[in-house]
Amino acid sequence: MLFLCPKCKSKCELTGCGKCGYTIPHIHSVFQFCDDLPCKLEGDDQYIGYDDIGEDFEPTVAYWDANNTERYDVYEACGDLIVQKFGKCITVLDLGAGLGTASIPLAKNGIYTIAADISNVILSTVVKRAAGRYPNLVCARMNAYNLLLEDNSIDIVVENAMLHLVDHPKKVIREIARVLKPDGCLIRYGSYGQSLTEEEAKLNTFCNNVLNDLSDIYYKELEILGYKRFRFDNRFIEKILEYFKPPTNEPVEGFSEVFNDQLKFRLHRLRTGAHSDLIHVPKNAIGAAWNITDAYAKEKYGEAYRDIKGFSKYGAMIQLYNLKR
Ligand SMILES: C[S@@+](CC[C@H](N)C(=O)[O-])C[C@H]1O[C@@H](n2cnc3c(N)ncnc32)[C@H](O)[C@@H]1O
Repeated sequence: MLFLCPKCKSKCELTGCGKCGYTIPHIHSVFQFCDDLPCKLEGDDQYIGYDDIGEDFEPTVAYWDANNTERYDVYEACGDLIVQKFGKCITVLDLGAGLGTASIPLAKNGIYTIAADISNVILSTVVKRAAGRYPNLVCARMNAYNLLLEDNSIDIVVENAMLHLVDHPKKVIREIARVLKPDGCLIRYGSYGQSLTEEEAKLNTFCNNVLNDLSDIYYKELEILGYKRFRFDNRFIEKILEYFKPPTNEPVEGFSEVFNDQLKFRLHRLRTGAHSDLIHVPKNAIGAAWNITDAYAKEKYGEAYRDIKGFSKYGAMIQLYNLKR
């Protein structure tokens, strides 16, 4: 048994607890291991859950991937490297799983994968994306501050872009260390830039300059409306190193990806407010800031400004942290 009962905290099956008889509720195949707030910006143990962001976090299908809903790129490459190194007879917890971009490729590789997130909206998208194909993928609504998983039960915890969303990362990292087996490890996915031709670099610089220009307008407008960026200053890397040895970085041999849609992607997030630092901003203020930005952009860069292409090329790597104990 791997899970802990939300009610009596004894070891339990995914379906329910043999000891107290509690049945783990599930909503659209998402097992409910907690009923905590979807987002908590006050009091103890704050976090930014993504219920209000949902699929806008990664609008792949809407923009550059209309015919291929299974484009996982760096995440897929990192998942393949994990299975190469550790085999598939392991249990992986993808903590703060988001839309399943790491979980689905891991599950596709045959690994027993728990996609844990505080957001039901996000997890129901994972269920939709997985489309019933992976019985070895479990979607669990859990709070990273209080993982309902047994001590020493997980081989690998994958954590990508979640630790900056909690105000008290040390508590979460302690939870990660608790659930890992003694020889288990924490893995974070990364990418590194690869060299560009002069022309490609020029395109990329222009695209980034436009993005910075438009972001400045957008965030200034929000400030005028009384909203500042919301961020936790939580120094989570320092805290990881209290529990884990410094990481080894392992590149995925032969992987290279070109990404042209930087501007479109970032603008989508500004238009929809799909960014953690905007989580406290009401949608009408997002709409107002966007309208000003859009009008400015059309005048300065032309009606088709959203189609400005960047050019970045990068490789994938995993950062592997072993426990100190
Ligand atoms: C920026 S997204 C990253 C998603 C995914 N790991 C990726 O790399 O694409 C962060 C995710 O962490 C989740 N999250 C935030 N606080 C959490 C908490 N306390 N417990 C579990 N998940 C949390 C959010 O709901 C969101 O889906």
